[in-house]
Amino acid sequence: MTERIAEEMKGQMTERITGQKPGQMKRVNALRAHPLYQKYYRELEELEKDRIFCRHQMPHLLDVARIAWILNLERGLGFDREVVYAAAVLHDIGKALQYTEKIPHEKAGEEIAAQILGDLPEELAFSEEEKQMILRAIAGHRRWREDMELLESLLYESDKRSRQCFACPAESECDWSPEKKNLEIDI
Ligand SMILES: [Fe+2]
Repeated sequence: MTERIAEEMKGQMTERITGQKPGQMKRVNALRAHPLYQKYYRELEELEKDRIFCRHQMPHLLDVARIAWILNLERGLGFDREVVYAAAVLHDIGKALQYTEKIPHEKAGEEIAAQILGDLPEELAFSEEEKQMILRAIAGHRRWREDMELLESLLYESDKRSRQCFACPAESECDWSPEKKNLEIDI
């Protein structure tokens, strides 16, 4: 068997097992690789390294992305997967500036995300409409409002439902109200 055929078979096998072709999330990965994303993410990692309460790093960001994606499918909302993931992966990127400069993280995050989204090369760029929708979702994800846009409320809900309060060792010290806490497996 030639090396090329072996490689092709490996690729097909991966696709069968994961249901994914490699490189399906190019735009989301490009956001994460952006130097500004890396800078604020590293700062946040350092700032939260001894934090006993909820952190805002990749496990949380991907929990939010995946919950939002599940809800999107269950409810037939029709969002593009990369739009959902982009909003989730970017939504807490302003958190380091909230800790260090006291800037609310949804505002700081909106600004950082706008720059990152605007810097993507043309072949990886989100459309203008998608960019604005992602930015509004980041800016609005922290507080519930009656007039929320659909992606905004999806991000808000997924953010809240992502927290595993029922298994958190710091639950009794956490200031989230009992109604807000997730006290059983739900999604
Ligand atoms: Fe969050």
